[in-house]
Amino acid sequence: MSKRTIIAAIAVLAVSTSAALAQDVKIGLILPYTGPGAELAQQMDRGIDQFLKVNAAAVAPYKFDIIKRDSKAPNGAAAKIDTQELLTQDKVDVIAGYVYSPDAIASAPVVTAGKRLAVIMNAGTAFITNLSPYFVRTSFTLWQSSYVMGDQAAKYMHAKTAVVAYTDYPPGKDALAAFKMAFEKGGGKVLDAIPAGGPEATPDFTPFFQRAKDAHPDVLFVFVPAGDQATAVVKTYAALGMKAAGTQLIGTGDIVPDNKLQGMGDAALGLITVHHYNADLDNPQNKAFVAAWKSTYGPDSTPDFTSVGAYDGIAAIAHAAQATKGKLDDGDAAVKSLLGWKFSSPQGPIMIDPETRDIVMNEYLDEVVKGADGKLHEKVLVTVPDVKDQCKELAIGPCAPKK
Ligand code: PHB
Repeated sequence: MSKRTIIAAIAVLAVSTSAALAQDVKIGLILPYTGPGAELAQQMDRGIDQFLKVNAAAVAPYKFDIIKRDSKAPNGAAAKIDTQELLTQDKVDVIAGYVYSPDAIASAPVVTAGKRLAVIMNAGTAFITNLSPYFVRTSFTLWQSSYVMGDQAAKYMHAKTAVVAYTDYPPGKDALAAFKMAFEKGGGKVLDAIPAGGPEATPDFTPFFQRAKDAHPDVLFVFVPAGDQATAVVKTYAALGMKAAGTQLIGTGDIVPDNKLQGMGDAALGLITVHHYNADLDNPQNKAFVAAWKSTYGPDSTPDFTSVGAYDGIAAIAHAAQATKGKLDDGDAAVKSLLGWKFSSPQGPIMIDPETRDIVMNEYLDEVVKGADGKLHEKVLVTVPDVKDQCKELAIGPCAPKK
């Protein structure tokens, strides 16, 4: 081979390599692979995998190269370092993930400096999307579920009095504020608000719920982060005999995630919650999603709302890849491509609000019932369509637009 032929061959190789690389989209995925959120991380990884498996055509001709990092304890420290390293060392085109609000809050300045789209797949404190123009959220806010729950508790359930118990960190404070505002607007009264531990370790809820029981409210409204805390809430409520004492347990759907429901047993029967997803939702997208999930992970496994936040998040990234012709490293163009984006999700129709970069979606008032198969299921009592983040709609505190 002459020298000239070798140089030409190298040039061809270089061109074809860069053409191949141009098709690659590097995604930095930050989830709590260890610690109390590890089960949520697995549910979300599976949501992403199911989307990529079933919707390969939505991604082609691009190839998603997903680099996973562990956000560990829900305090933001590791997530911030992960974000920094993924952007500066791995040079990812997009950031995604964030289960716990402190992870997204701590990472916001790094995301802004990095100028790359960052898709929030779970963290639900309302003001988070105001912290960086590169945040787009496909999960939910606690103001969406809790506001609707407060309204329905007053108007559908005709409750007059409530006690609120909440995990004492940003999404819990949002849940309290939103529930209280809507419930009291509907004529109800919140008798007591009880901070019930932090997101890290599952507390013994007994003293908090005993205090609630002693106030004899019509309803006890609870928010805790999904996972083992949810099971502990339902079991403690049952153990204290609160239902027989006249207090109904209600909450956001975080207290009855689908993957924990069967393990709660009959203690969960009759629970009333508001959320944007349950695995029993009767729509073609959800039927296909749940069937594909069960065929991959087994008949006893089920997706939950965290899986759907991740599924919708990777669908959003696929859309942005197509819309920018693979140039996702232009963070401004990537964000812009998602403003007003609509998608038929397993949770129903969703849209990214072009004003706030938050998701707009249905909220469902659900009751836990026993099916003919002897298993626990969610029955939809009321559908509230196209719910926006109420914190921004009502311009409350840090949700108000900057003047
Ligand atoms: C959050 O930290 O924002 C969070 C975590 C788990 C949930 C809901 C919200 O179930």
